[in-house]
Amino acid sequence: MNKSVYQLVAATFAVSLVTASSERCAKSEVRKLPEKLKLGAATAAFQIEGAWDASDKSPSIWDTFCRVPGNVKDGTDGNDTCKSYEYYQRDIEMLKFLGVDYYRFSISWPRVLPTGFANKISEEGIAYYSKLVDELLANGIEPVATLYHWDLPQSLQDLGGWTNPLIADWFEDYARVLFDALGDRVKSWITINEPKQFAIFGYGMEYFAPQVNSAGIGDYMATKNILLAHARVWHLYDEEYRDTQKGICGITIAADFCEGASDSPDDIEAGKLAMDFEVGLYAHPIFSSTGGFPERVVKRVAEKSAEQGFPRSRLPELTQEEIEYIKGTSDFFGFNHYSTSFYTEKTYKSGMYAVPSYSDDIGAVAVGDHERYEKPTSSFTTPIPAGIRKSLNWVKDSYDSPEIMIFENGFGSYGSLGLEDNARIDYYGQYLDAVLDAIEVDGCKITRYTAWSLMDNFEWSFGLSVKFGLFDVDFEDEKRTRRPKQSALWYRNLIASRTLNPDDNPQLEDIAF
Ligand code: BGC
Repeated sequence: MNKSVYQLVAATFAVSLVTASSERCAKSEVRKLPEKLKLGAATAAFQIEGAWDASDKSPSIWDTFCRVPGNVKDGTDGNDTCKSYEYYQRDIEMLKFLGVDYYRFSISWPRVLPTGFANKISEEGIAYYSKLVDELLANGIEPVATLYHWDLPQSLQDLGGWTNPLIADWFEDYARVLFDALGDRVKSWITINEPKQFAIFGYGMEYFAPQVNSAGIGDYMATKNILLAHARVWHLYDEEYRDTQKGICGITIAADFCEGASDSPDDIEAGKLAMDFEVGLYAHPIFSSTGGFPERVVKRVAEKSAEQGFPRSRLPELTQEEIEYIKGTSDFFGFNHYSTSFYTEKTYKSGMYAVPSYSDDIGAVAVGDHERYEKPTSSFTTPIPAGIRKSLNWVKDSYDSPEIMIFENGFGSYGSLGLEDNARIDYYGQYLDAVLDAIEVDGCKITRYTAWSLMDNFEWSFGLSVKFGLFDVDFEDEKRTRRPKQSALWYRNLIASRTLNPDDNPQLEDIAF
């Protein structure tokens, strides 16, 4: 990947990273957590399961991606990860240790439907998730299941994947299989995790599977189909399962905050436009009262497309019927957040990004570290807790105050910080403090907070080299032994006391799972 693409991805990809441990710096009052706020931890199938070919499982697009030399920064493969397909009971022990209310995990489509289609349902695949759900419930932990966290069956990608409009049929069939198999016990469903990340990075760039690299065209085609496929599954749940299963179903969107890099009107406008591209493109069709793509985005892509000689906009149109069909199809706003990006038009020059492309359409430069913020230990790391509060308020104000479920928030490091991961505790303390402000001062209706991630795992193109876990995993050890970091003990205390005490400094415990 060339340097500018790498910088762009770094700025827009939802991670905040550090290279070294630091002294604790969080200083804030001790606060009681609101009664209604449930606390959980999250993972995703490809990032933890391994067992890429167990029983009749077929390859996913990420299995394919990992096998191309150079694609994964440290040369690791999803198959090298935590082996949770084998050791899931230890994951449940860890969740119990933390005392979480719920566990957010995802289901691997090619493990459940090896052909990609519902003509053949894998008994072993279903049995695996069924056991996981049963054992979570037996331990008093609510299962929250994501249907799609990026591991599309390769067989479906061979037919165009998310750029093929028939994906809505295939996704509906897959969802039906899972509602039938697990819906008696799973009451919270997430259809799709972070549409932008796999549409733009996977279909508009080479950074993610399936590396289609059709910038400014394929990524927008995927975007439309993702929205329609999500809506199809919500309607399916609403019409055929809700009455009997009595659960909820919705989407999860990456909502890192974007704002102007300076107070100049042009930069402020650039920040707003970037927010519409980064979050609004996926959220507006579902959560706004008018439906459809955000006006600013529609206008910008149409203008650029015309300048570039395209006979029509590269952003596919949504018909009025499609707009109505997609509108209102989420029972909650699933909200993932890591950091904030600052946009400026000043240094933007046409041609600095591929033409056409999503980044060129935004027409501004995301500048990583802003002078207003404390210098981080690496160029990636700028914990900006105020950003999560701004983003939560942006959702509240833009979409008539929906119920917000924070399904990811967490802190990544290059390499291990060791078990004494003070920087991670600081991050969680400061971000939770801002979340409490959003609830108590601003009136945002936030009902869940989820730590990403339960344990160190396969961080996509970074492989095993980037660590987000509350638990350390020894990847050299056949048994993938897991040990609580200090942040796990801190999170456990938070949950047990239902009190945010950023200065809590638990001693490490000699425990392994
Ligand atoms: C994804 C996770 C990922 C995390 C940290 C989110 O974009 O949903 O799968 O591990 O961010 O980068």
